[in-house]
Amino acid sequence: MGKEKKEQRVYLCQQCGYQSRKWLGRCLECGAWGSLEEVVALPSLAKGAAADLPRPVLLKDAPDGDEERLSSSLEELDRVLGGGIVTGSVVLIGGEPGIGKSTLLLHFLQGVVTGERQVLYVSGEESARQIKMRARRLNALADGFYLATETRVEQIIAMAEEMRPALLAVDSVQTLTCSEIASSPGSVTQIRESTNKLIEFAKKENIPVVLVGHVTKDGNIAGPKVLEHMVDAVLYFEGDRSHAFRILRTVKNRFGATNEIGVFEMKEEGLAEVANPSEIFLAERPLDEPGSVVLPSVEGSRPILVEVQALVSPTNLGTARRTSIGADHQRLSLLCAILEKKAGIDMYGHDVFLNIAGGMRIEETALDLGVVCALMSSLLNKPVPSDMAVCGEVGLAGEVRAVGHIDVRVKEVARLGFSRILLPMGNRERLGEELGIGLLGVGNISEIMDIVFT
Ligand code: TYD
Ligand code: MG
Repeated sequence: MGKEKKEQRVYLCQQCGYQSRKWLGRCLECGAWGSLEEVVALPSLAKGAAADLPRPVLLKDAPDGDEERLSSSLEELDRVLGGGIVTGSVVLIGGEPGIGKSTLLLHFLQGVVTGERQVLYVSGEESARQIKMRARRLNALADGFYLATETRVEQIIAMAEEMRPALLAVDSVQTLTCSEIASSPGSVTQIRESTNKLIEFAKKENIPVVLVGHVTKDGNIAGPKVLEHMVDAVLYFEGDRSHAFRILRTVKNRFGATNEIGVFEMKEEGLAEVANPSEIFLAERPLDEPGSVVLPSVEGSRPILVEVQALVSPTNLGTARRTSIGADHQRLSLLCAILEKKAGIDMYGHDVFLNIAGGMRIEETALDLGVVCALMSSLLNKPVPSDMAVCGEVGLAGEVRAVGHIDVRVKEVARLGFSRILLPMGNRERLGEELGIGLLGVGNISEIMDIVFT
């Protein structure tokens, strides 16, 4: 009757993307206070596009074979992606400001441009002049490398539809705006709807899209976790700004393994791939120094030797301090308590500082035995022999438990010239002698004293 259709309004949590028909002081989903904001429901948000009825196909008739992938010419990056970027997929690269995301993107695009291929880099963060300055240093001024400074997502898509690049990169999602949405750039609604549009574009045109996202203080990409659910793969670019090493880590990958890592080094002329991270992480290792232990960690499919350092000194305060950089803090407290209780070592009277050298971060429990050895070594002021590596998980009873990927670990230790490895008895029993390295099995931490510190 000529009456305008009433706009549908919903309330959207700016933290987690939860939707509610009425306003709430606290989000029912994530529990954040005052995070709901009124937005106009978009067709894509309001109804689940049920225009044409989809038809199921027989699973056995579904298309098979490998996905088509595009190589970045960077081995470290390709491996993290699962063997190159899948055409039509959307990859999000997250990281703290200044860690090197834009630099990585330039390398990525430069690696894709070859012969006939064109790429499009859209930046909403820096001017063309700034980007060119950086690209020149990186030697990324190839023919076929196109640049646009634009933040309106509809314009970006129109541009890409016309140009049909082999790869589209957008730096960053936080700068994008979508004309249908009134809220400011960087808000959850904007980021979400803009990303939605880019995903639609990628699928429809079968063009891969790489998005950069800044990570907030609490480690989320732009606050909303929704973004991580929407894209095909999420990579985190991380590292300690005071070190040159950067680690690219897969958090999610619909087309490959997660936990895979790529190692880079930030240099004057951009990022350099680190093909042998073990050698680099051990380069500055002090030999025969108490508190220093080498351990083989496994990230994804790849073993990396790292040095763990412990400093144990008598405490001056009432309660002993436990400080850990690069390893789990709670795990360190736990290991200290186990040493106290099961190996009769006085840890309560000592402050403990633990550090993984080179700014590396390790979460796996295979670190435990190495940490225990490092702590004992520092406390006793006796070095762990410099030709010995250590690996194993430690349980609450002081038992040393078997770890996964043992053969990869042992091989890497042997490759780097170590002559022996201290490892769980459970692993020792299943390993043959052909690895060319001495295998010292240990069943309980109480045995360490005799094996390591005699
Ligand atoms: P950048 O890629 O701009 O980080 P992000 O996009 O994640 O904010 O790079 C940030 C830092 O990297 C910058 O402080 C300078 C340093 N850098 C180098 O050391 N060498 C280089 O060749 C480049 C391009 C950057
Ligand atoms: Mg940047």
